[in-house]
Amino acid sequence: MAPVGRLAICPQAQLSSKQRLQYEVARRRTFAIISHPDAGKTTLTEKLLLYGGAIHLAGSVKARRAQRHATSDWMKLEQERGISITSSVLQFDYEGFRLNLLDTPGHQDFSEDTYRALVAADSAIMLLDNRKGVEEQTRKLFAVCTRRRTPIFTFVNKCDRAGEEPLKLLDDVEKDLGTPLYPLTWPILDGDTFVGVYDRLENYIHLFERTHDHGARRAAVRTAAFGPGAEHLIGQSAYRRLCEEILLLDGAGSSFDVGAFMRGEVSPTFFGSALTNFGVEPFLRSFLRLAPPPREREAIERTVAPNDDAFTGFVFKIQANMDPKHRDRIAFIRICSGEYKPGSMVMNARTARQVRLSAPTQFLARERTLVAEAWPGDVVGILDRGNLRIGDTLSGNGTVTFQGIPRFSPEFFGRLRAPDPLGRKHLDTGLRQLSEEGAVQVFYEAGLTGPAPIVGVVGLLQFEVLLHRLEHEYGVRASIDRMKYSDARWVVGNAQTIIDLGRRPGCALVQDADGQPLVFFDGAWTLQHALEQYKAVTFHEVSR
Ligand code: G4P
Repeated sequence: MAPVGRLAICPQAQLSSKQRLQYEVARRRTFAIISHPDAGKTTLTEKLLLYGGAIHLAGSVKARRAQRHATSDWMKLEQERGISITSSVLQFDYEGFRLNLLDTPGHQDFSEDTYRALVAADSAIMLLDNRKGVEEQTRKLFAVCTRRRTPIFTFVNKCDRAGEEPLKLLDDVEKDLGTPLYPLTWPILDGDTFVGVYDRLENYIHLFERTHDHGARRAAVRTAAFGPGAEHLIGQSAYRRLCEEILLLDGAGSSFDVGAFMRGEVSPTFFGSALTNFGVEPFLRSFLRLAPPPREREAIERTVAPNDDAFTGFVFKIQANMDPKHRDRIAFIRICSGEYKPGSMVMNARTARQVRLSAPTQFLARERTLVAEAWPGDVVGILDRGNLRIGDTLSGNGTVTFQGIPRFSPEFFGRLRAPDPLGRKHLDTGLRQLSEEGAVQVFYEAGLTGPAPIVGVVGLLQFEVLLHRLEHEYGVRASIDRMKYSDARWVVGNAQTIIDLGRRPGCALVQDADGQPLVFFDGAWTLQHALEQYKAVTFHEVSR
């Protein structure tokens, strides 16, 4: 089999600092997995770690997840609910590449952090269940990637058991998402039995042998060139079916367009089964061949290339009180250019203040380790005493301001009630800090005694986290009255028209913390109606 562009292992000591930077950038791949709960994200993550050699026996990530709740003293709520509220990054090596897999919290802990992780990623893997195709959460995350023109891979999982007819599945997904899929591997099916995958670019077949350890170890694979001789390997009916399907796929004409993939206009698609490891390795190899290393990022002042000597990075996540004894906040920074040098001074463009970079921390699952060095594409956590906010840009050379991380329109809303009027000051402080940290979005509606706070979230658990943290960190007992609204849009237009829109049945006009107007809608129909009736108003799903 052809090598997959394995990177030469470089004697790092012999490199100049410029060459070292280029080398480290070239081997970084920073990505996230987008999926609906239960599609197999944890299982696939584990298998990528298994193939990357970061773990030797799959099952340990899940085991660690279970064990963690017994040992971690962080955030009671997390322990009580047995879930992970914070996202982290997993770093591992494969064939000379260094991969950074950004965790995208799902299940009940779906939150704005999930969206923000995508802003820090250079590519994404969309994981689909072969029986279900695109589900709601995937649709939302896919939309964020497309908006940002992030290259997206598709992995159709669970092929070890019968699923939707592959051609139909692809057709449905393409129609649903409006983005063409280009299969680079194709499942070899003998009846309903998945026997391997055909690699379209290499014209190879990979045949799998089931192991009896539920995929705990790498799958045994036999590889052969595809041609008439393959018939006796996969059997007559599987061979005939594969030939027909290849003809159909090739008949569609176009060849795979790497440029279109880089612009997020076509998604290379793979089939496999994370549980049994079938198809994981061919996928990983193609992933490494195609996934982009850290790319240029547009800042207001200039375009920043990852190979620029000066350090730049942006804060995409803030996590408070990871250690309740120290009341610390960790700011997670995605490095965009230059080397991260602990102790050096950088400029925070928003405050025009100097910030000293502390020793960076990296996270494998939930374990913190101090790292000696970090490069573009890496994510480091640094201790913060309340000076940093989500979206802040840090730069070692002059002012650099990356376009801020957008706020995504929430889907659940609630009026915040705190019975003790004396606690109002603490409540305001708490809401301000938690909103800066991105835990919730805070809006204000005109009230009898001044602006009344409304909180908006994209995942319901954020409400619970908010109440818990207000009580334990700010000493304010509060409750939330859920509101009937389910959509919100930032609006731009004539002030009187916007006021009129906000008075319509099922709508409400509020302001965000920066004074920007938003309108809430009590359902998709009300929103649609407003979009059609108020053509002079511009509606934004994401704040700018
Ligand atoms: P998630 O993180 O996306 O929520 O999914 P997770 O990996 O936890 O997988 C959800 C369920 O799907 C698990 O079953 C898992 O074993 C199963 N699964 C994942 N990949 C495959 C696959 O390739 N084939 C098949 N047949 N199943 C797969 P579970 O019964 O909910 O949990 P468990 O008892 O196996 O841990």
